[in-house]
Amino acid sequence: MAAMARILEQLGVEQAGLDAGASAGTWIAGAGAVNEVVDPTRGSVLARVGSVDRAAYDGVVDEALRRFGEWRERPAPRRAELVRKLAVLLREHKQPLGELISLEAGKIRSEGLGEVQEMIDVCDFAVGLSRQLQGLTVPSERPRHRLMEQWHPLGPVAVVTAFNFPMAVWSWNAALAAVCGDPVVWKPSPRTPLCGLAVQALCQRAMADEDAAGVWSLVQGGAEVGAWMADDERFPLVSFTGSIAAGRAVAERVARRLGRSLLELGGNNGVIVLDDANLELAVRAITFGAVGTAGQRCTSTRRLFVQRGIAPRLIERLVAAYRSVRIGDPLEPGVLMGPLIGADAVERFEDAVATARRQGGEVLTGGVRRPGAGFFVEPTLVRAPAHADFRVAWEETFAPILYVFEVDDLEQALAAHNAVPQGLSSAIFTESLGAAERFLSPSGSDCGLANVNTGTSGAEIGGAFGGEKDTGGGRESGSDAWKTYMRRQTSAINYGRELPLAQGVEFL
Ligand code: UN1
Repeated sequence: MAAMARILEQLGVEQAGLDAGASAGTWIAGAGAVNEVVDPTRGSVLARVGSVDRAAYDGVVDEALRRFGEWRERPAPRRAELVRKLAVLLREHKQPLGELISLEAGKIRSEGLGEVQEMIDVCDFAVGLSRQLQGLTVPSERPRHRLMEQWHPLGPVAVVTAFNFPMAVWSWNAALAAVCGDPVVWKPSPRTPLCGLAVQALCQRAMADEDAAGVWSLVQGGAEVGAWMADDERFPLVSFTGSIAAGRAVAERVARRLGRSLLELGGNNGVIVLDDANLELAVRAITFGAVGTAGQRCTSTRRLFVQRGIAPRLIERLVAAYRSVRIGDPLEPGVLMGPLIGADAVERFEDAVATARRQGGEVLTGGVRRPGAGFFVEPTLVRAPAHADFRVAWEETFAPILYVFEVDDLEQALAAHNAVPQGLSSAIFTESLGAAERFLSPSGSDCGLANVNTGTSGAEIGGAFGGEKDTGGGRESGSDAWKTYMRRQTSAINYGRELPLAQGVEFL
């Protein structure tokens, strides 16, 4: 508690507001239900945060809409000043922000800091992007005509994020949206509202400096507030990160009003290791992918397809690596795995292990929760029977469980790999150029992310991030993901004195 109070003070978060019902600065607590934030490391209550009520929510969205009227007229490189200033503040506060992520979400120190770095990176990217929101000029078929495309701001964007990246996923959306001319209203996970408050406190400072109040705002709450956002016509775009079931519900609501949704839902990420793989690389990448963040990334490695020749050596090395992982307080030096987010997550872990056993899986290491306070489990390796029958592996369990399948060859591995409904991230370990290219070919991995000789998690912000099938099809952060936050306008301009019609049509 003392650590948290110190961190919040360093970040300028008004702590008086952290009791039920109050509002601090611009974060809106309102009169809605009070939410208890539980410290995953100790199991105690970290804070109580009131959810927004409908009237306060409407006020925040109206304010975003008002700001949009002005913001869309500001030149994009001027809008980028706001993002640049936020990036400076993030650099200055990297340490306490990272620690807050560790306290509230249970990530180890290095990963908490890594998440803040991811925010800094995407802000820098967005600043450069502000001068590259380029449209095309297209040759017209008509004489003395010009055909061109422009990208215009879209409107306020609702951003709903999950506990596991309690700051960075917001920044992917918020940095891009701001330079694209769109205000953002953010609803963080009710499990990590303090991360939201801390980021908002820094946003406040950047916005005050740039006369930009209302570009970034925050509402706290659970599924009910999320549903308001999905139904809200004032948001032409709703960006949602979370489970497949919740994402489907959001997408249906948004589609009913013909809005646009950007979905980043569950993954069920596989790694294929062929006999000729560099074993050292594979062991390290798989362990980070499956055990890192206690298996609570969308990109966490959950299924391993290993060719028979290398299987005994790889499994032996993985078991040893798993047993060497230090589990404990995520802020303690040397700890590589922190807790799961809550008691319900531990229950789901235990259920999945029991189901795996029932379905013929053999637990090679782990499989149990750690006694004592907090939500700690052991990283778990399960030798699995044939993929088609082992249904527990077809679902995403947000926990450090890795299912290991032995395969004859790449084709068998690919077929099983692609059989599941999710399609976020994937990787292959091989020294064969042919096998790597086969994996990346049109009938290779069906995921949005497909890596060679590096693992499934830990993507850089420069690429477009997201996945196919039940993962939802959205793309965030780098490359041309910015286009989702803008509307495209195609214009034909006649600079002649005739009116030639397209397709050779004659009229009048
Ligand atoms: C997520 O788990 O929602 O690629 C995002 C990664 C991180 C982002 C994960 N850069 O693992």
